[in-house]
Amino acid sequence: MTVGRRSRSDGGAFRDHVGEGLETALRADSTAAGLRLEGEPRFAWRGVMLDVARRFRPVADLERFIDLLAAHRINVLQLHLTDDQGWRFEVRAYPRLTEVGGRRSQTQLGHGPHSTLDGVPHEGWYTHGELRGLVRFAAARGIRIVPEIDVPGHAQAILAAYPEFGVGGAEAVSERVAEPWPRFGISDEVLNVDDATLEFVGTVFDELCEVFDSEFIGIGGDEVRKDRWRADPRTQELMAERGLTTEEELQSWFLARIADRVRGHGRRVVGWDEMLEGRDPAPDAIVASWRGPVGAELGARLRHDVVLCPDLWTYLDYRQSDLPEEPIPVGTVLSVEDVGTFDPVPAESPAWFADRVAGVQANVWCEHLDGRDRLDYAVFPRLGAFAEVAWNGGPVDPDDFAARLPGYLAWLDARGVAYRPPSGPRPDQQRPGVPGAPRDRADRLAELARLTANL
Ligand code: ACM
Repeated sequence: MTVGRRSRSDGGAFRDHVGEGLETALRADSTAAGLRLEGEPRFAWRGVMLDVARRFRPVADLERFIDLLAAHRINVLQLHLTDDQGWRFEVRAYPRLTEVGGRRSQTQLGHGPHSTLDGVPHEGWYTHGELRGLVRFAAARGIRIVPEIDVPGHAQAILAAYPEFGVGGAEAVSERVAEPWPRFGISDEVLNVDDATLEFVGTVFDELCEVFDSEFIGIGGDEVRKDRWRADPRTQELMAERGLTTEEELQSWFLARIADRVRGHGRRVVGWDEMLEGRDPAPDAIVASWRGPVGAELGARLRHDVVLCPDLWTYLDYRQSDLPEEPIPVGTVLSVEDVGTFDPVPAESPAWFADRVAGVQANVWCEHLDGRDRLDYAVFPRLGAFAEVAWNGGPVDPDDFAARLPGYLAWLDARGVAYRPPSGPRPDQQRPGVPGAPRDRADRLAELARLTANL
C-alpha cells in the first residue's frame, strides 16, 4: 500500500493484495453487520489507533479487536506502544524498558481535580514473538499494524528505566521520576538530545523495524513539553552547536534523525501534526492531523501525505452524550450520529489538499478504558459510523444509518460486544462517583486554535 496522491487506485490494489477469498469473507461480515461498505474504498488508509501504553491488553483481546476491525474494513491498526504511563514493546538491547517501564504501582482513577489513585499495580508488555504473531494475525485479516514509539516527549516510562536519557543528568532525573507516571496528562519529562540518546532511540527503532513489517512506523512527536530543554544549559549548548535557535527546531531536528534511521530500513515515519512545528523534519513523513484542520492543511501544502483524525470527530474515548450517567466523561460530546457527520474532504476542498489525504483514523486513547467492556463501550457502535465515512469518503446519511442501527447492534450482540446502547449506559456500564472532566466544544475549538497557532 502506498498512500496519498495514488490513494484511490491503491485502495483497490490493497484489496487485491488481501486476496479474493479474504475479500469475500470480509464483505460477507460487513454485509451481515448491515454496514454500507460496498464498491471501492475512497481511502487507502482506514485506521484505528489503540493506546496499549495506558492500558496493557492481552494478545487474545487484541486479536478479538482486530477481528472486529476487519469486519468494519479497517485496514490499519496503529498500536501506541509507549507513553508516560507505560512501555509495552520488548527491546532486547534495553531490557529495563519493559522490566521497569512496563510496570506502574497504581493508576489515576477519574479525571480532573477530584481524581484519585486506584492503588492497583498495572503491568504488561509484548514480546517480539507475540508481536510477530499479531502482525501475521492482522495481515490474514487485511490489516497492517503500524507500531508507534512516542518520542521525544511522553517519555516518563523510558526515564524510569534509563534516567540517563532525561534532561539534567541521571541523578536529577532519578529524583524526579520514580516509575512510569500513575497520573494522566502530559508529563514534563522529555528525552535529552545527546548523541548517546539519539543512538539509544535509533536502536529501539531498529528493533521495531525488525519485528513489524509495516512500511509506516509511528514516531509520535506530540505534546513535547519544551520547559526542560529551555532551562537546561547542556541542551542549549547542543542547540547552538547544531545551529538550532528554537526548541521547536530542536524537536524537528530530533524527529528528522529518527526519520533518517527509519528510512535506512526502507520505511517511512508517521507522526502527529506537532512534527511540523519548527522545521519540516522529513519530506516522506505522513502527518496524522489530530488538532483540527491546520496540521493537515500545512502538511498537504508541504506535499506530505496526511491522515485525518481530528479529535472532535474521531476520538472514541470522548464522551458519547452529556448524560450524567456517562462513565468518566472526558472530551467533547461525540455521539455515533456526530461521528457520521465527519466530512474528511468536503466537496469544495482544493485538489492540492484532496490529493494528499491518504485516509482517516479513529483514535482510541485508553486512560479511562481499563478493561475489554470499557473498550467495547467506547468503540461501538461509533466505529460503524466511522467505518462508513472511511470507506465512502463522506458523511453517512443519518436516517439511513438510524434505520440500519438495530441490525448492526444485533450483529454486535451476537459477537458479544458490550456496545453503548442508544438510550445510554446500562447500570453496569456506569462509573458512579468516579469524576470526569467534560469539555465544551467552543472551549476546545479555542484551545485548538491556540495550540496550532505556531504551525
Ligand atoms: C494526541 O492526541 N496526543 C495525538
